[in-house]
Amino acid sequence: MIQIKEYKNQFMNILFASSEAHPLIKTGGLADVSGSLPPALRQLRQDCRLILPGYPVAIEKAGDLKVVAELEFPGYSGPARILEGLLPGTRVPLYLVDAPLYFNRAGDPYRASNGHDWQDNHQRFALFSLAIASLAMDQAGLDWKPDILHCNDWQTGLAPALIHDRHDRPVSIFTIHNLAYQGLFPLHAFHELSLPQHLWAPHYMEFHGHFSFIKGGLVFADHITTVSKTYAEEIRSQEYGYGLEGLLEYRKDNLSGILNGIDTRTWNPEKDKYLEANYSLDDLGGKQQNKLAIQRAMGLQENADIPLVSHIGRMVEQKGVDLILHAMRTLLERRSIQLAMLGSGEKHFEQHALQLQADYPGSVGVHIGYSEQLAHLIEAGADLFLMPSRFEPCGLNQMYSLRYGTPPVVRRTGGLADTIVDTTPETLAAGRANGFSFDLPHVDELIACTERALDCLTDKNCHDSLIYNGMSQDFSWERSAREYLDLYRQLM
Ligand code: ADP
Ligand code: GLC
Repeated sequence: MIQIKEYKNQFMNILFASSEAHPLIKTGGLADVSGSLPPALRQLRQDCRLILPGYPVAIEKAGDLKVVAELEFPGYSGPARILEGLLPGTRVPLYLVDAPLYFNRAGDPYRASNGHDWQDNHQRFALFSLAIASLAMDQAGLDWKPDILHCNDWQTGLAPALIHDRHDRPVSIFTIHNLAYQGLFPLHAFHELSLPQHLWAPHYMEFHGHFSFIKGGLVFADHITTVSKTYAEEIRSQEYGYGLEGLLEYRKDNLSGILNGIDTRTWNPEKDKYLEANYSLDDLGGKQQNKLAIQRAMGLQENADIPLVSHIGRMVEQKGVDLILHAMRTLLERRSIQLAMLGSGEKHFEQHALQLQADYPGSVGVHIGYSEQLAHLIEAGADLFLMPSRFEPCGLNQMYSLRYGTPPVVRRTGGLADTIVDTTPETLAAGRANGFSFDLPHVDELIACTERALDCLTDKNCHDSLIYNGMSQDFSWERSAREYLDLYRQLM
């Protein structure tokens, strides 16, 4: 008993490795997680530190930085300097890997402005992983040794492989945020990396004739997590496993799901600085002002009585953007409703969305691009939020929607299945209903589900219950961080 107590109070050193983190650089939910989980772990009195590539925008936004190490890696041009600072707005120590030849370029972290992946991504993220491994083994001269190395997604997948046979290494954890992105490169790219030859083997990091970064995490990490319990099950099946289901099934005893939290300070309708009017469960008045503001901002007819359906996200097949666009075309013919859509991604989806806007002027508002401000305003002003994802490891927008009193309409998969309780007479009576969900990624199912949701908006009892149930739920990071902490402790 005494032993357990001492163990439970133990502080841990945790190195959290990610290729993006809010507010320094963001392309999707990974950045939200990497910007929130390390501070939440620090709140739980753990010494959690974050390591990221030194993209120019990250260096600029990080503010005060000092050079604390200079690392040389054979086969790479120039030294990689380790810059130390703090993740803005937190007390989380931040290490940026400053290797200008690899990271000092405009565009997003993975792609050039022409939309194609950077040709040398294998070298960029191998270098990043080498730097992570140096810090993990306390070989960078920082006099700080992590007990836990927590890696995220393929960009960090090589790090657990690089340290797996080292004496006195930290426990390694690899979190899958999205199995669809695996970091696959041809054989010649593997040769360019000067890695131990034995890694090129089907039971290690080779994957059907390619070198797979993500397999470094999946094969060598002591434990694998993903960002919801349902997705942790789904990825062991052919439908969701992208060819890795066999490996994940093999590792099932070391694979678990921990649901993400949301940043309840940034996403708080009572204090949100991006809103036209703040509001709360006790005083929902401001919600309508936000609706009028979003209608104005997106060229929609200004009328609070017209139901406003919305979507925010990367315009890719995963998110079911095509399902939204097809379903909305039918629904716009059937009912007086509006659509507000924010996102960017594959060109054909962007064009299709803009076409819908042209066909239904005043009823469809589309903004192609990235805008924090619009994202917050849409969450606050819309009546419903659509998320018919084909797969969704966790998903954050459905949780933002709940918190903003905007019931989500989702496909029952991954984190969406774990957070949204479909509205039925039973779930309503039990006070659990918070949104609407359907099973198959088919347009007809999305249409039928959205119709149910629209009907609920006109039924005061139903609508009020959903708003109450959603807005009073707790999705704070503290709960998730405690689960990670329990896992770290078990693994040690
Ligand atoms: P994913 O990581 O698969 O893209 P998530 O739901 O986990 O999906 O997270 C997406 C995050 O990115 C959310 O914080 C969402 O608000 C944000 N986001 C996506 N597209 C945009 C956009 N065009 N403008 C502003 N925020 C966006
Ligand atoms: C991924 C997933 C998304 C998840 C996010 C953060 O990008 O697509 O479902 O919420 O990572 O874990």
